Amino acid sequence: MIELDIFTLFPAAFAWFEAQRHVSNATAAGALGLHYINYRDHTPLSAGQVDDTPFGGGAGMVLRVDVVEAALRARYQSDPVELRARRRVIALTPGGRLLDDALVSELAAEAELTLLCGRYEGFDERVLEHLVSDRVSIGRYVLAGGELAAMVLCDALVRKLPGALGDERSALEESFSEALDGGPEYPHYTRPAEHRGWRVPEVLLSGHHARIREWRMEQTRLRAQASEQR
Ligand code: 6GU
Repeated sequence: MIELDIFTLFPAAFAWFEAQRHVSNATAAGALGLHYINYRDHTPLSAGQVDDTPFGGGAGMVLRVDVVEAALRARYQSDPVELRARRRVIALTPGGRLLDDALVSELAAEAELTLLCGRYEGFDERVLEHLVSDRVSIGRYVLAGGELAAMVLCDALVRKLPGALGDERSALEESFSEALDGGPEYPHYTRPAEHRGWRVPEVLLSGHHARIREWRMEQTRLRAQASEQR
């Protein structure tokens, strides 16, 4: 069971994500709880203000540290500086630790997580310095907000939860997993066995499980080699 608290200005953006089969499966199985906290509902400022122009000038708006703190306090009834010592509070930010399969597994093993989505130019730096335990990025490019990044993280994480996938084996032997030594997954084929003369490898049609397994591991090794050379 994992409880995810997602702090965002756009909770409605997650509706599509929640409707995904593996997510609704996990929720129905009691393996996942998703909760949204809108910074705007907790801002101490007037007129629902949550962001401000950057000191020193420049384009864009920055999510205020007092607003993020107020939202965390409202949710957890404690000082966020103490909170981050006992709970993973993760800011989604382009400069953070790059998300990979190992980090997803690490986070999927937690009982609770807090995800902070930024908008505009991102967070006031003091949020990152004092209020969070982790900074995570999904790649070295900039998105308009952390919501898509949070969904990417949650999607990958939910696939690791018991009951999320129709078949538990799907997540075990997939690309970059330990079962494949961190390598890319072997190729898959389905019907038709031939299309425009493009034939499915004979071994997969042989029903010979040991040989199929051997072939797949070999494919993973070849692909790992090829991607190292790129
Ligand atoms: Cl986590 N946030 C934003 N805004 N952009 C990103 C990102 C996160 N990861 C890559 N680009």
